[in-house]
Formats: sequence, C-alpha cells, structure tokens
Amino acid sequence: MIRAAYLAAAGFEAELAEDLRRAGATIAAWHGRLALSPDPPADAPWSLDTWTAPVEIPAPSVKAAADALRAIQRNWAHLPHLHHRRSALIAARLPPVKARPLVFPEPAPAAPLGAWTLLAPERLLASPSKTSPFVNGEVRFVEDREGPPSRAYLKLWEALTRIGRHPRPGETCLDLGAAPGGWTWALARLGARVIAVDKAPLDPAIAALPAVSCRRESAFALDPRREAPVDWLFSDIICYPARLLALVRRWIEAGAARNLVCTLKFQGATDHDTAAAFAAIPGGLLFHGFHNKHELTFARLA
Ligand SMILES: C[S@@+](CC[C@H](N)C(=O)[O-])C[C@H]1O[C@@H](n2cnc3c(N)ncnc32)[C@H](O)[C@@H]1O
Repeated sequence: MIRAAYLAAAGFEAELAEDLRRAGATIAAWHGRLALSPDPPADAPWSLDTWTAPVEIPAPSVKAAADALRAIQRNWAHLPHLHHRRSALIAARLPPVKARPLVFPEPAPAAPLGAWTLLAPERLLASPSKTSPFVNGEVRFVEDREGPPSRAYLKLWEALTRIGRHPRPGETCLDLGAAPGGWTWALARLGARVIAVDKAPLDPAIAALPAVSCRRESAFALDPRREAPVDWLFSDIICYPARLLALVRRWIEAGAARNLVCTLKFQGATDHDTAAAFAAIPGGLLFHGFHNKHELTFARLA
C-alpha cells in the first residue's frame, strides 16, 4: 500500500531519497520523479510536492478513471509519466485546473488541489491532498524582464508566496549577498527600506533606488549585537551552508532579525547534515522551491 508520494525536482532524486532515508521512510518504487512510499508522510525538504493521502483506484476505462476522480473532488493536477495517451484522455475529461501565473504578491491559490498519475494502464494513484497548492509544485509568476538585474528575484517571490508573508512598506530589510540586486529590487518594490550588503557592487540602477542603501563589505563581518535590529534578514550569499548556519544562529541569538529568509547553496556534494541543522531551528521552514537550483530555502518568521 502506498501511503505517501514525494515529487523530486528533475535531477534532485538522490537528495530526496536521502531525505526520506533520514526520515525513516522507505521508497517502494520510483514512478518517474515520484517516490512511492509505504510509510506515512514525512518531512522531506527536497520534495517539491508531497502527496499526503494517496489511494490506488482501478481505472478500467478512461471514463471510469475520470468519473472516479471527479467523485472525490473537483480540482486535480495531472502528473504525466507512463501511458501518455491514456493519461491525456483522462485529463481531458477533468475540469481544467487554471495554471495562471501569479502576479506577485498575490497569494497562492487556496482551492483544494489533488494530484493523480497512471501507475499502470488500468490503475490510478490519486491523492486528494498534497503539500503544494500548485500543479506539481511548479510556481510560475508573471515575470518582470526590465526591472531586476538577475532572475534570482523569482526564488525570493516563491519563498515569500510560500510563507504567505512579505515585508510591508517602511519595514527594514538587510539583504546579504545582494549583488547584482534582484532581491533588493523585489524588496524595494514592496515599499521596504533595504540595506544591501555585498563585497561586489550592485547594479547602478538598483543602488540608485531611493529606498536602497549599500554597504560594500563582507556579510560575515557584521556583528548583529552592534547592528540596529531589522524586520527582515535575507541572505543569498554564495558560501558553504555551515558558514551560513553560524551566521543565522548569531542573528537569531542576538534577537536582531525578526524574520529570516535565506538560501543554502550547495557546492559539490549536498551537505545534508547542515540542512538537517537548519530544519531543526525552532519555528523554521526548509524547502526546495521550484525556482531553487542546487539549494534549499530556509525561512523563519516572528
Ligand atoms: C547569487 S549572488 C546573489 C544574487 C542576488 N540575491 C540577486 O538577487 O541579484 C551571491 C552574492 O553573494 C556575494 N557574496 C559572497 N560572499 C560574500 C560575503 N562574504 N559577504 C557579502 N556578500 C558575499 C557575491 O558577491 C554575490 O554577489
């Protein structure tokens, strides 16, 4: 019996498998990028989307499959893998799920969304509930191709959408590892005051924004006990995750940042031990977002 299914981003199946091993959850089989487990759902930061209540349903015909899904609920995300033609015919009989890109900062969709796939021509796996409100965990935004100097802002938009909070006008944000300025741009656009810290210069257009001030120094040289407290601490610094963990702990212990959002960037092998230490920070959330590459996002809100 399958009691949970976990969707890895393409290329990150090994990271997900290690998460599940550490959580004590067995993988009975892989169905493409979907790890099928006989154990109850577990926390797995590398899962883009976790199917929390999967059931196997006989699907003797296309119509029977679609009817069975519709009898459970209205909205279903399709995870295509095998039996593409039959899958597409079933999907065509279901109400379309609007995959309209979000206009940040609009909230994530609130309507219940399930997920299904064809395990075999006549057998569905369907979960009425899953952790991501997006089709297969794929969060898409209406992008801004002119304002930001890099595409890193999409990762920040995704994190803020996921936590359901963002800086308010007038709040202070410290943006560590800010250059060339994608996150700083996104924060300034929310009306926040941004202190951008980087050893490298910001894009001049971002540095010139009225709400932005720049500090050309190492983020690790800041002593949170001597800095004015901030509403938000952001970090997208390229550094070893263990070094970031020490930095985050210093800011939390000093009580100098009410909310934190940062990226753990892995170089070479994934440092699962440090990821686990981040996951263990009380009140924290650790996840692999759709816009994350070989990195995880950590967030902790007041
Ligand atoms: C991925 S980039 C950040 C992209 C940025 N968030 C954006 O949206 O444009 C990583 C940055 O970390 C900076 N960095 C590396 N070591 C640093 C340090 N010790 N202190 C501050 N910034 C550092 C690099 O100079 C680089 O600009």
